[in-house]
Amino acid sequence: MTAVDAFFDSLWQQYIAINPQAKAIHQLLNQRGEHVINDHIALRTFATEKLGITALAPLIESLGYEVQGHYDFAAKKLNAVHFEHSENPHLPKIFLSELKVTEFSESLQSIISDLDQQVHSQELETVDFIYSGRPWSLTFSDYISLLQESEYAAWTAAFGYRANHFTVSINYLTTFFEIEALNHFLLSAGFSLNESGGIVKGTPAQLLEQSSTLADLVNVEFSDVSHAIPACFYEFAKRYPQDNGRLYQGFIAASADKIFESTDSQKKPGH
Ligand code: NI
Repeated sequence: MTAVDAFFDSLWQQYIAINPQAKAIHQLLNQRGEHVINDHIALRTFATEKLGITALAPLIESLGYEVQGHYDFAAKKLNAVHFEHSENPHLPKIFLSELKVTEFSESLQSIISDLDQQVHSQELETVDFIYSGRPWSLTFSDYISLLQESEYAAWTAAFGYRANHFTVSINYLTTFFEIEALNHFLLSAGFSLNESGGIVKGTPAQLLEQSSTLADLVNVEFSDVSHAIPACFYEFAKRYPQDNGRLYQGFIAASADKIFESTDSQKKPGH
């Protein structure tokens, strides 16, 4: 197995361990004879000197990836970049975002600074940091306090380094052509999809359509208590060709804002 294949395998095993619906959907697609190719995977971090995009990018670049797009999500106070593999276009794109911590309250900044101080720079020297889980201890009350300002901050503090979601490429499926047909199949199989902003985010004219499941609830061990909170979701993307005939490879700010809400605690899976 190549280093990049081993990386995605570790990331996937870590992801399905707390996201059984992704494993179940993946198996359902396999049973139809599909060979699932991922469009992208998404990672989250905090924009600190030690943990920000600038610090994590070299780890991803060590796998043969290059930055191909920059994004600013003003409403969610996030910066993001997306990477594409320089040699193999069938490998998933990697979407890496960071929370602009300094744009939040003193209280949030102090909690994040506390988490940041629990990480040693040496831990970021090898790519396995990306799937190392939570490198800090966190109290449930700090989680709740982060949640009041930013779902993203709370999720990242609770789950640390792992894929927030994997994304099935609909373009590579052979038994589904339209995103609506796949959504219908998933709903019929009993899965809940995120309806915030409509089930399908984006349009053919925007060259990207996406939908996603609602996050599974999982029990997380905080330093004081254990509590069930929303974990990860599974995403589905269909891309359309640009004028030059090549499939669009970027991400849309407007619809991505909606996708980020799939882990909102207020939206309980199953209703
Ligand atoms: Ni995504």
